[in-house]
Amino acid sequence: MPLSKAQLLAWFGKLDTVYAAQKEYLTALDAAIGDADHGINMNRGYGKVMEKLPDVADKDIGTILKTVGMTLMSSVGGASGPLYGTFWMKAGMLFGGKEELGAADFARLVAAGVDGILQRGRPARGDKTMYDFWAPVLDVVNARAAAGDDVAAMVAAALPVGEQALADTIPLQARKGRASYLGERSIGHQDPGATSSCYMLQTLRDVLG
Ligand SMILES: Nc1ncnc2c1ncn2[C@@H]1O[C@H](COP(=O)(O)OP(=O)(O)OP(=O)(O)O)[C@@H](O)[C@H]1O
Ligand SMILES: [Mg+2]
Repeated sequence: MPLSKAQLLAWFGKLDTVYAAQKEYLTALDAAIGDADHGINMNRGYGKVMEKLPDVADKDIGTILKTVGMTLMSSVGGASGPLYGTFWMKAGMLFGGKEELGAADFARLVAAGVDGILQRGRPARGDKTMYDFWAPVLDVVNARAAAGDDVAAMVAAALPVGEQALADTIPLQARKGRASYLGERSIGHQDPGATSSCYMLQTLRDVLG
């Protein structure tokens, strides 16, 4: 089954609810190794996305994704706004005129989004960032797309790998962003951005289920 526009919009709606519910938790994670604003940032950003989406809900998927990206970019300061903003803007550029996303489209969405994170933040694997969640997830998505999985099967296969990758950020020492200033004291804490990224995939699984 392809990912319909209605499911895509439901995904953003659910993400807004999840970031509101997890605002304190994400901020507590960021308090340990950053500046205690990640939950506030995500909650504010998706609140603004919810204000903007009704204007473009009947437009093509490219327009919807670009609107999400531009809204996050302009409403969220710091590192995560430009990183997630670029994720969605890059993905949106692929889907002008599209009304649904097939399995190959979904793999291209994730690849373009992750490429946006790479271009914007220049993270490497093991730097303790959201990229440590996305790099192995993208590998699974690409492998499952090549094997002919549909979107739900790809997400189901990628999620446990992503959840393990999220837990694996705990022993890492941060080498990007404010957390890197802590040096070895960043070890032992789960990365906030990898956590908010994991919510993206968990929420999509819930929408598809
Ligand atoms: N250069 C980077 N590349 C990829 N991800 C990054 C980078 N810098 C920070 N991040 C991600 O952003 C998250 C922090 O997002 P937040 O909303 O708290 O923005 P911030 O306070 O401006 O960030 P930071 O304190 O890391 O500069 C980190 O947990 C990490 O996952
Ligand atoms: Mg922060």
